[in-house]
Amino acid sequence: MTALPRRPVKFLLNGIETTVDPDRADITLLNWLRQDRGMTGSKEGCAEGDCGACSVVLARRDDKGTISHQAANACILFLPMIDGLSVTTVEGIAGPDGVLHPVQDAMVTHHGSQCGFCTPGFILSLFAGWRQGMAWQRAEIEELLAGNLCRCTGYGPIVTAALSLADVAPPEWDSGRQEAEKNWLKAHNKTDLNTGEEQPFIAPTTRSDLSHAIADHPQYQIIAGATDIGLWVTKQHRKMDGFISVMQVEDLAKIKETKDHFIIPAGVSHAEAHSKLAADYPPLDALWQRFGSAQVRASGTVCGNIANGSPIGDLAPAFLALGADLTLQHRDETRVLPIDQFFLGYQKQDRKQGEWLAEVTLPKLATDEKFYALKISRRFDQDISAVMGAFCLKTDGGKITNIRIGFGGMAAIPSRAPKTEQALLGHDLTQPIDAELDASLTAALDQDFTPIDDVRASQAYRQHMAKNLLIKALLAGASDAPNADMLAGFSDQTKAILETNMGAAE
Ligand SMILES: Cc1cc2nc3c(=O)[nH]c(=O)nc-3n(C[C@H](O)[C@H](O)[C@H](O)COP(=O)(O)OP(=O)(O)OC[C@H]3O[C@@H](n4cnc5c(N)ncnc54)[C@H](O)[C@@H]3O)c2cc1C
Ligand code: FES
Ligand code: FES
Repeated sequence: MTALPRRPVKFLLNGIETTVDPDRADITLLNWLRQDRGMTGSKEGCAEGDCGACSVVLARRDDKGTISHQAANACILFLPMIDGLSVTTVEGIAGPDGVLHPVQDAMVTHHGSQCGFCTPGFILSLFAGWRQGMAWQRAEIEELLAGNLCRCTGYGPIVTAALSLADVAPPEWDSGRQEAEKNWLKAHNKTDLNTGEEQPFIAPTTRSDLSHAIADHPQYQIIAGATDIGLWVTKQHRKMDGFISVMQVEDLAKIKETKDHFIIPAGVSHAEAHSKLAADYPPLDALWQRFGSAQVRASGTVCGNIANGSPIGDLAPAFLALGADLTLQHRDETRVLPIDQFFLGYQKQDRKQGEWLAEVTLPKLATDEKFYALKISRRFDQDISAVMGAFCLKTDGGKITNIRIGFGGMAAIPSRAPKTEQALLGHDLTQPIDAELDASLTAALDQDFTPIDDVRASQAYRQHMAKNLLIKALLAGASDAPNADMLAGFSDQTKAILETNMGAAE
């Protein structure tokens, strides 16, 4: 493939068209804002996508002309990744003559800020909700703000401030800004990007050019949302030779649907997949609500989560249970691999040099299949799994005729549980789980896995939890609607926990 012409990164920054030609592609948007532009409103708390102090709002237009606004963590976004987007920072929120934006006014009126370190991030997350026309219901506010940490004010006044926005009409100047942003995004189609003299960042706009660029430059890191790679730079100080981004290809950003499958290409973010697949896979809906934060889901991709091959990634166990296929591409050749053949060892996958993960194909659930995905982590939001179990059961008259189990956190790779699956074939879900079955499941799981002790969980905890998740899935499978009777005998606190997880398992 001939090299793409070099050009600077071009974007809208608080309504002003901006071009930058960075030497190194791995300069983060946050460092560029603060150090090069002196825009110090966005703060650095953790530099790893956890605290939300660096939140900015990115607006983008899709191929149908729809404009979306999402908060993103500027600390793990590299500057070339905002090419063609509109970026709003806390400096660009207030109106003419410094009049407060309604989201700022609400925070002041309801005492939502003390030290103020977290405040710019909260303001930007609220602004993303404002631009998206959110209804300001408590549950969606909590989801919107789960990626913003505050240690002084407490969340009560912040949530009250957000709730008050339901009754506020947009001022004229705000609507005018939104219109100008829309016009700029409409006038700027995605174009090939090749920037960074010292450390290149290449982002072709066609799938074929992308594939050839990856094969031509195997030394460059394939990059999607950078929610993993960003931390390699900010925390591990790794120096990559260059990057090739999958995110400029319009065709890779949308989920496709056939009669029996959903196809998730490389550029599809978790937020996009969540909104499109929630109704067909309710357990994935519940899982995505607990995947990182709104900021992480807006940037991170489904394929990045699989390609990264982390043993504690959340989607791999779910996709193992669903029996997903992966399409791997090298130049213009593709091959299809069942996901359970992809993970070979710790950070080692069946992916040849120059090959990339083009799409994940998910089978639709059949009417006689039951699917459960259960995540155990220390916090409900914004936390990596200690153990993640996913179960897909096919039954006939209550008897299990086929079962696929996927576990994360139990081995060096996300993995099926072949002995346990074998032990459950023919099990009648309507029969109680007696001591004999319990013992056989313990023995089978012991044969399938020897988990490690680490900071997230001990080996014993992981083994115990894996069996509990399995039993929970079997109990849920025994009844189409898990009900209060099944929980009789538990304390109210335990019931609340079980009901939450049963809900996730429905
Ligand atoms: C605060 C925070 C919270 C998080 N919470 C969770 C969580 O709850 N659950 C969870 O599972 N993960 C979580 N993550 C991890 C991360 O968000 C996911 O793994 C995400 O899906 C990675 O996707 P990405 O597009 O950002 O990948 P990137 O960071 O861009 O890339 C990750 C890896 O995948 C490779 N890659 C990306 N796309 C392709 C492709 N198409 N073909 C080949 N290789 C490719 C890259 O080369 C790199 O090796 C969290 C991360 C952060 C920072
Ligand atoms: S500084 Fe904490 S999320 Fe960016
Ligand atoms: S007001 Fe101090 S951290 Fe939020």
